[in-house]
Amino acid sequence: MILGGVRIDAEFGFEGHSDADVLTHAITDAVLGAAALGDIGTHFPDTDPRWKGADSLQFLRHAVALARAGGYTVANVDANVILQRPKLKDYREEIRRKLAAAIGVGPGCISVKFKTAEKLGPVGEGRSAEAQAVVLLAPAAPGEQTPGGASTPPFP
Ligand code: C5P
Ligand code: MG
Repeated sequence: MILGGVRIDAEFGFEGHSDADVLTHAITDAVLGAAALGDIGTHFPDTDPRWKGADSLQFLRHAVALARAGGYTVANVDANVILQRPKLKDYREEIRRKLAAAIGVGPGCISVKFKTAEKLGPVGEGRSAEAQAVVLLAPAAPGEQTPGGASTPPFP
């Protein structure tokens, strides 16, 4: 299981086209959403063999670069992972550091919270996981902005 780019010691993982890092996907979607740039599937369709087994942090870095090209930087991130088990709190600082490095901000700008589903529903039964994220974008300071304004940076 990979969450926020960090490998979590667990007796099971998530199925997905990429590395199935639901936390990084939620934050990537929130960055794209705040910049009104579509969603993760717009930029990285799961039908594209290039993204099979992909490291989701590259999706996040690309979303941040797109927002930056539009004149915005990430001010802060607040995210939830809803997972019945395993316990994640001992991974919090490592996940914050990893996400902060990918986004290009300090770990103090990144909040990651964890909760169970109180044993209810597919998440509570341990068959699924959910992640939610809110991202605040701020106008980039002059000079912080990618030259050329809203041009799309090349990818990969
Ligand atoms: O959902 P619940 O109230 O049981 O969560 C209690 C605490 O357990 C949370 O505040 C969180 O710090 C931690 N937790 C965790 N890993 C999870 C779920 C919850 O570390 N998968
Ligand atoms: Mg509780």
